[in-house]
Amino acid sequence: MARDLRLLPKAHLHLHLEGAMRPGTLADLAAEAGVAPPPVRGYASFTEFGLQYRAASALIATEEHLRRVVREVVDDAADDGAVWVEPHFYPPRYAGQLGSAEEVLEIVIDEGERAAAARGIGCGWIVSALRDAEVTQAVDLAALAAKYAGSGVVAFGLASDEARFPPEPFAEAFGIARDAGLICAPHAGELAGPESVRGALDALGARRICHGVRAVEDPALVERLAAEEVVLDVCPTSNVMLGVVGSVEQHPLAALLDAGVRCSLNGDDPLLFGPGLLAEYELARDGMGLSDEQLAQLARSSLVGSGAPCELVAEAVEHVEEWLTRPA
Ligand code: ADE
Ligand code: ZN
Repeated sequence: MARDLRLLPKAHLHLHLEGAMRPGTLADLAAEAGVAPPPVRGYASFTEFGLQYRAASALIATEEHLRRVVREVVDDAADDGAVWVEPHFYPPRYAGQLGSAEEVLEIVIDEGERAAAARGIGCGWIVSALRDAEVTQAVDLAALAAKYAGSGVVAFGLASDEARFPPEPFAEAFGIARDAGLICAPHAGELAGPESVRGALDALGARRICHGVRAVEDPALVERLAAEEVVLDVCPTSNVMLGVVGSVEQHPLAALLDAGVRCSLNGDDPLLFGPGLLAEYELARDGMGLSDEQLAQLARSSLVGSGAPCELVAEAVEHVEEWLTRPA
């Protein structure tokens, strides 16, 4: 009998709030709006994926919708054995409609805290700017994130189309986040190659990188990531669905681990890609052949790389060791 991966304590560090919405909730919100649910499978390009992401997000029309999605995302993380969940969130998506960006952020912080407390886990937020929005908006968002550092926000991110929008113009925003003590966790090395990962490290001061998997194209960069203990928040199914890698079997996760790079395992957008957190761990075991020691290492890195309080991390890491010493 294999060890139960649900019982492996872990953190979910790379998921986007709307992209982690339950399919049933999307159907309910569409019914309430009197429209057909938008399609959530099969993308010919990142642009097409982005349009579907936005169509799903547009169905969140009220504060109660937003609270429901937060609550369910936290519940799903807890159900999959996460002791900490750290979703990406872009407050301007609802600004105007549900209040100011700050009021919207307060709603998700409040609901995340309540939902996590009800399940005995923790929740912290990554305020994420979008590369295809104005750079000045990213600066404003970094200032907002900084205001809530230590009060619900733990990190600052950068999402959307990396191929068309390199990291360097966002240096000022990330400087503000860094000065506030936030973890800098931009997307890089997904839709662009090693130069984008270097840009995230050098211009943005990234300590965690969302994806980062295309660093494998440059062995010197892989060595640097290992030496500097940067955590890559890896999402295998997302990479396959968006054509970043050819198949799960060809995914570079095992190679990155063998090279000593710290990686966490994540779902990215389970609504649009399918598997949730636990299913990604199962896929890593069954589809990539990772050992329980490697799976425990992913869980350890997710905890140590997270913005969770030190006591939560220390206790959970101890439980990872206990999980590993149980007979398989
Ligand atoms: N936003 C949601 N999912 C994303 C991804 N995989 N890459 C960049 N931005 C995203
Ligand atoms: Zn992502």
